[in-house]
Amino acid sequence: MNIHSREQGAWTSDDVIVVGGGLAGLFCALRLAPRRVSILATAPIGQGASSAWAQGGIAAAISPGDSIESHLADTIAAGAGTVDEAIARLMVSDAAERVHDLLEYGVPFDRDLAGELLMSREAAHSERRVVHVKGDMAGAAIMTALVDAVRKTPSIRLIEGYVGESITTGDGQVSGIVARPRGGGQPVHFPARAIVLATGGIGHLYAVTTNPPESEGAGVGMAARAGAVIGDPEFVQFHPTAIAVGRDPAPLATEALRGEGATLVNSDGTRFMPAIDPLAELAPRDVVARAIHNEIAAGRGAFLDCTEAIGAEFPEKFPTVYGYCRDAGIDPVREPIPVAPAEHFHMGGVLTDARGRSTLDGLWACGETTSTGAHGANRLASNSLLEAVVFSARAADDIRARYPDSEEMHPVPAEGAADDQGPDGAAVARLRQTMTRDVGVVRDRAGLVRALATIAELENGNRSIRFGNMLTTAKLIAAAALARTESRGGHERSDYPESADVWRHRTFITLDEAEGIAAEALPAETAVCD
Ligand code: SIN
Repeated sequence: MNIHSREQGAWTSDDVIVVGGGLAGLFCALRLAPRRVSILATAPIGQGASSAWAQGGIAAAISPGDSIESHLADTIAAGAGTVDEAIARLMVSDAAERVHDLLEYGVPFDRDLAGELLMSREAAHSERRVVHVKGDMAGAAIMTALVDAVRKTPSIRLIEGYVGESITTGDGQVSGIVARPRGGGQPVHFPARAIVLATGGIGHLYAVTTNPPESEGAGVGMAARAGAVIGDPEFVQFHPTAIAVGRDPAPLATEALRGEGATLVNSDGTRFMPAIDPLAELAPRDVVARAIHNEIAAGRGAFLDCTEAIGAEFPEKFPTVYGYCRDAGIDPVREPIPVAPAEHFHMGGVLTDARGRSTLDGLWACGETTSTGAHGANRLASNSLLEAVVFSARAADDIRARYPDSEEMHPVPAEGAADDQGPDGAAVARLRQTMTRDVGVVRDRAGLVRALATIAELENGNRSIRFGNMLTTAKLIAAAALARTESRGGHERSDYPESADVWRHRTFITLDEAEGIAAEALPAETAVCD
């Protein structure tokens, strides 16, 4: 734990607090400099963040022959009918400048012998447009550069080892955040004029995920409890090719492998994607994830075969995936990799506008914890790091314009049980199993109602505010999934398998509305049978 101001003998923080030490949080804080800002993070900055695990890279239409229009068209096509075109246009248009910023921070994107940036191809992109580092190490390299930059920036104060629990409000606007030391203890109220939520995704609400354990949907839970509107919570992206070796979190086999020609086969050795989509292995992620889910459900299994397309070049081209495979006793140069879908990204989140503003005055958000509308119902590969840098910069610019002068603030011990030891392991495991089984790749009414009943039961016995945030986020996802009686992108209902024109729109939902959906569904069907 590291509270600079505390070590100096007095509690001080800044009037702008960024919550989260992943890509979006760090980029936002750096962009605010030299204006003062505090970063409050659960782990030392850069750790516990999905960004550091990203293998693909950042999509940006910067090669000759590529265009913003083409990147936009691919983003809209992948998004399955609900992309906010104006927001997506902002995202793809700002891409070149943000990649330039990362180069300035020293990110060593791969280049060819002539010094030009090398681009990889990923599913549903019509061009090679993903800048990457050493093949599959983009996230780690970007985070190393940004952590270094943050630690050298005197205007950024770090409050590490604190878990955000509740956003406080007064007179209709945000007044601060209550956070507790990660290991337990007395909560502290950090007053603030502006809070920026950059707490990442929701992976740890699911039993099978590619995200680090810190991705537990805290930002969505806190924002919803404070009254913010949540966008598109039902749209959850399952990455098709997590390596299925029973590890938690599940290691990822990047989509760039399929971009290089790797194929998907079942245990008979039959390639199954060409019969499902004309783009075969390069179909949008939701399509490939469902196809793999169905092969596994039918008992045929699914494997990523890289032996012909990549073969002996695997260790050098994809060192991270190669390491994961070797740790599991698999040699991807010679044998197919067993794969299965795993929760990977949340298209939904805190509803924000082009400036990163939420519906609560004084609350901004950026990165995966938001729902900007740029991804619609299904995110295009390597648009996630892009969204994080684009909208964190926009949020920083907006905050600086609104509050040009900074103020020191004085945190105080907050009311609240000092003996809140955090989530109970068995309850978390039950929630995760429920979400994977009933709110996973394929859903139906019976499973969603069962999930809402389990969430209600877990809420009744819960004494942990942190677990309460997890349950709130899970409830929003399950309730919105129950209400959306169609299939679209990352929301597949086996009882409503088609997309419906009346549902060709985003979801905007408050916690009260989610509770109304749950209350309406539960009385008749409350039986919980895990
Ligand atoms: C991958 O490398 O397959 C993941 C990239 C992403 O989630 O965009």
